[in-house]
Amino acid sequence: MNIIVVVGARPNFIKVGPLMPALASAGIDARIAHTGQHYDATMSDVFFRDLEIPEPAWFLGVGSGTHAVQTGTAMMKLEELLAAERPDALLVVGDVNSTLAGALAASKIGVPVVHLEAGLRSRDMSMPEEVNRLVTDQLTSMLLTPVREADENLIAEGVDASRIHFVGNIMAESVLRNLARIETRDVCGTLGLAPRGYVLATIHRPENTDHPERLHEIASALLDSPLPVLFPVHPRTRPLLASAGIDGAEGSNVRLSDPVGYLDMLALQRDAAAIVTDSGGIQEEACMVGTPCVTVRRNTERAITVEVGANRLAAADARVIGDALTQALAGGREWERPERWDADVSSRVSEALLSGVLPLAGCAE
Ligand code: UD1
Ligand code: UDP
Repeated sequence: MNIIVVVGARPNFIKVGPLMPALASAGIDARIAHTGQHYDATMSDVFFRDLEIPEPAWFLGVGSGTHAVQTGTAMMKLEELLAAERPDALLVVGDVNSTLAGALAASKIGVPVVHLEAGLRSRDMSMPEEVNRLVTDQLTSMLLTPVREADENLIAEGVDASRIHFVGNIMAESVLRNLARIETRDVCGTLGLAPRGYVLATIHRPENTDHPERLHEIASALLDSPLPVLFPVHPRTRPLLASAGIDGAEGSNVRLSDPVGYLDMLALQRDAAAIVTDSGGIQEEACMVGTPCVTVRRNTERAITVEVGANRLAAADARVIGDALTQALAGGREWERPERWDADVSSRVSEALLSGVLPLAGCAE
């Protein structure tokens, strides 16, 4: 079996980390096409190094742009690639614009789509990722889900159960496979921070960054945190922080840094007293490493992390975030890991692929 795996943005790289070796050992010929949606060394190269991901066979150089420009450019380049290569399937991961572009280009050229992390829903159509998830899943032949609730979402949307495979959460497998590699990694120590003596923060979602009043509220909450805050900053957020009130000056309660690599980030999450984020992947990783998480969003497609007690939602309001952080810092660090958030996810993916990818209605030869 010969497949092409599309990646483009930071969370995609992490998802294919454990996947590529599993596919190779199952005898599946899988090659990576990198759209280039993320391109800075700190947003792309570092993950290939940290996770020992094979070099992409194709680099499409799409870059930044509006949603339509980015998705459309990626579609055009992927269509050309798929027409030349005619793989047995195209595997897309997550919910970014590169995911949607892959699904659209492949389904229209008659290449079956496999989606890893299918079926998550925030039910918030103002979120670009929710649009990407809904459309991708409608075009997908094989839907690989991270939680049982995702299967239910897909069934409710009319997806035939025979296409759905509950494989578990690949982000969890990545954490489990990499925790041993960072046992002695003391990233917080090198920054002069004590284990359990700081809060780790990341904020990059447009619902927070593109509303100055909300970003200001988040900044105030971080500046008022009872523990110092370490904030590795996404390039989208960086130019907006000063006007929100965070200047990262010496002595500030909020220390800013460039985005960090995966292994450093995992160590920083493990050692933090709590995490404040709007990231999808970090909600899951916090749940895996046992660090309480406050998610600054109105909703989450990762509701399971709230249900097990690892995560709580907070509106972008300084007092609400402050209260949630106080609760997170005072609460326990033990909860049950969700079902199939284990180290066998990538083997279940290989097994599902080898069982055969059913073409969509009307597409059988
Ligand atoms: C994208 C995803 C989002 C994901 C995030 C992960 C979509 C719709 N959004 O958002 O789901 O959570 O990635 O990080 O696909 N930039 C750089 N260097 C880079 C990449 C981006 O400077 O290497 C800057 C550019 O100014 C760019 C902006 O960041 O315009 C946003 O990048 P983009 O890929 O459009 O969206 P993200 O906010 O990264
Ligand atoms: N991440 C990282 N360094 C950082 C910020 C995030 O390695 O400075 C990792 C994080 O641990 C997780 C992934 O990037 O594995 C999540 O990506 P992001 O938050 O950009 O996107 P989302 O998951 O929200 O789509």
